[in-house]
Amino acid sequence: MENKDKIERLELLREESRLGGGKDRIEKQHKAGKLTARERVNLLLDKNSFEEIGAFVRHRSRDFGLDKISYPGDGVVTGYGKINGRPVYVFSQDFTVFGGSLSETHAEKICKIMDLAIKNGVPVIGLNDSGGARIQEGVTSLGGYAEVFWRNSMASGVVPQISAVMGPCAGGAVYSPAITDFIFMVENTSFMFVTGPNVVKTVTHEEVTSEDLGGASAHSTKSGVSHFSVPNDAECLLGIRRLMSYLPQNCEEKAPKIPSQKPDSSLESKLSEIVPANPNKPYDMKDVIKGIVDQDSFMEVHENYADNIVIGFARLDGRSVGIVANQPLSLAGCLDIDASVKGARFVRFCDAFNIPLVVFEDVPGFLPGTDQEWGGIIKHGAKLLYAFCEATVPKVTVITRKAYGGAYDVMNSKHIRADYNVAWPTAEIAVMGTKGAVEIIFRREILKSDNPAEAQKKFEDEYEQMFANPYRAAERGYIDDIILPEETREKLIKAFEVIQHKADSVPRKKHDNLPL
Ligand code: HXC
Repeated sequence: MENKDKIERLELLREESRLGGGKDRIEKQHKAGKLTARERVNLLLDKNSFEEIGAFVRHRSRDFGLDKISYPGDGVVTGYGKINGRPVYVFSQDFTVFGGSLSETHAEKICKIMDLAIKNGVPVIGLNDSGGARIQEGVTSLGGYAEVFWRNSMASGVVPQISAVMGPCAGGAVYSPAITDFIFMVENTSFMFVTGPNVVKTVTHEEVTSEDLGGASAHSTKSGVSHFSVPNDAECLLGIRRLMSYLPQNCEEKAPKIPSQKPDSSLESKLSEIVPANPNKPYDMKDVIKGIVDQDSFMEVHENYADNIVIGFARLDGRSVGIVANQPLSLAGCLDIDASVKGARFVRFCDAFNIPLVVFEDVPGFLPGTDQEWGGIIKHGAKLLYAFCEATVPKVTVITRKAYGGAYDVMNSKHIRADYNVAWPTAEIAVMGTKGAVEIIFRREILKSDNPAEAQKKFEDEYEQMFANPYRAAERGYIDDIILPEETREKLIKAFEVIQHKADSVPRKKHDNLPL
């Protein structure tokens, strides 16, 4: 064979691989409002940076007619490229080839890049669009899934793992994204569930659509499985690019620093008026966050789930930080089961990847009720406490208003080794709010008094003077300073300059036993 023919053979094979399941199926994919696996990779990565691995891999199965048809690449595009100039490994399932279903070799391709990602300390991004296990392959396919799950677990805490669900993701297949750090879901074209609508109908007699059962909306508002719900493929890929900009490459590195950007001056100047004089009045904690962090740098995670706690990434003086904040606009900022779990996982992510934590605190306590108690608020609340306790990254707390009861301890208090804790003059650091406290400790005196209303008021003033302020905590050194709201940004930036190289440790252990 002439060299020319050899080159032509390669070109033909490359072209075949690029075409996936063929033009008709690509058209069908587009008609469904979805990009192809390759179009997604190209949009995700910096221009011309993608290098493919395994374009010629074919399945080995010979059953059910698979000996007669095969596609080079076997339904998944794998390789590496760059995002904002930094390397990432990527796999992108190709729905045009056997519905993106996972065969033995398809799994091997994913495992290969995951092994490389762990070895080289490079993040992995998985774009999922698959009918699940390749039905013709039976248990070999299930084995392939387990190989992927195992690597997801091994990579956890070593390199960031990001999943995008951009089509079907059903059955056990959901557990790969579930183990990764963040899940993006595309609205109306993606779904995730352990059992689909037909099985649900048979077992529980419930009638539900795929979208209602496991679409982006369900998982970003009800279950909390998805961290980001995005309107289309392009937004999804841009969202991943933005998220990556806050993250380091691996657990040994720090996130990149970019030029500092002062916050919007109109937001910054409003800080001193944000907290209302009436302690029962809500305000938007996101205004506080945006008035302090670098302009337009706040990227909220889990925006529509458990909104009584706000989490997300931001930058302070160009440095990546993880924000955890109570939100007085929702449930008065109380901690409940969902908020605790949401906060805990985020804190653990930031700690695993050296991203300093900033806590904004206005919390009246844990949410009361049988729902919460029977649902296990004790063990779930403990997760957030545990996460802050074990975190060794630089961590700071700003108490804007309420820091009551156990929630005071939980929200990154000094006692659990926070590095710099400050309060605004509007802070109330106490066991509970004034009215409740007075009704308990002065009940008898108030009942005995000739004028109970007046007595109540007198005791409330006394309590407020004594406890509903930050001064008792400051006297004890439980907070390091009481600062003006408009001083917050500069004080935090200075604090992080000093504590950025903090070295803290935990006792030797095989692993911890986080309350689950
Ligand atoms: C092999 C599959 C496949 C699969 C789809 N295809 N799923 N081939 N194995 N799992 C093929 C179809 O035959 C079809 O081939 C092409 O992909 C597109 O499928 P359509 O049905 O035409 O597409 P659509 O109408 O969009 O429906 C998509 C779908 C549906 C909802 C994913 O295909 C479906 O329900 N598939 C089966 C899903 C499933 O039961 N998977 C196993 C689940 S158990 P042609 O040649 O016509 O293009 C599982 C366990 C994992 O995954 C366990 C891990 C531990």
